[in-house]
Amino acid sequence: MDSMADSSTHNGDPLGATDPHARARRIQRMFARITPRYDLMNRLMTAGRDQHWRRIAAHMLQLDNAPRLVLDLATGTGDLAFAVRQAYPNARVIAADFSEPILRAGIRKAQRRNEQACEWLVADALRLPFPDACFDGCTNAFLLRNVVDLPLCLHEMRRVVKPGGRVVCMEITHPQTPIFKQAFQVYFYRLVPLIGGAIAGDLSAYSYLPNSLSRFPPAELLKRIMQEVGYREVSYRLLGLGTVAVHVGVV
Ligand SMILES: C[S@@+](CC[C@H](N)C(=O)[O-])C[C@H]1O[C@@H](n2cnc3c(N)ncnc32)[C@H](O)[C@@H]1O
Repeated sequence: MDSMADSSTHNGDPLGATDPHARARRIQRMFARITPRYDLMNRLMTAGRDQHWRRIAAHMLQLDNAPRLVLDLATGTGDLAFAVRQAYPNARVIAADFSEPILRAGIRKAQRRNEQACEWLVADALRLPFPDACFDGCTNAFLLRNVVDLPLCLHEMRRVVKPGGRVVCMEITHPQTPIFKQAFQVYFYRLVPLIGGAIAGDLSAYSYLPNSLSRFPPAELLKRIMQEVGYREVSYRLLGLGTVAVHVGVV
């Protein structure tokens, strides 16, 4: 297994790899490594707001009370899957991720919560193992920055959702307010890697985090990309002082 240390310098990108497959494998291994402290780091980095944002994202699916099937893609430790279940008690959720260790952490959490309406599945967001139009909705949080082919990922989610269903994508975004933008730069690009190094013991993973944002399209451009992929009625809501965007598109 190659370490982060041997891949840490390409173009200032802590993941280094230019080959998309190698890059995806490194992302997979990185999330496996940070699994033990993943939830704690989320709470620390967002001052405890991340769960509130997931609840908002879940409500943006706008499902009714009928039994529905939802895909929570890149579910990680399952927090958005649980928020969907809380918002729609009659829904069943397929919680999928391509990193098995982080998925196992989600399964353990589901057992502690006695959550039985989530099914856990190892799956790649770029090759979803589902037929067309089989879900009533799809959610994902903090996935899109990580995929090596953003339009393909958006296309795959659209493919597996029934016509009229919604795809809800929550992701970190570039804040626009000038003064806050500067403060955020210092926090995200300097402090977060240090906190990640100290708490999660993984400086390179938490250096990758800001780096992945710098390559990611701003909220307005992401909206246009979703429209180009074929989503209708695309809109987004900014949260966390403009640092998080929740995009919604109708299939
Ligand atoms: C930042 S975590 C987000 C986890 C969770 N959604 C949350 O709200 O905390 C990103 C997750 O995306 C997963 N991921 C990244 N690329 C993926 C892909 N191509 N297919 C499936 N999962 C992927 C990672 O394994 C990781 O669990």
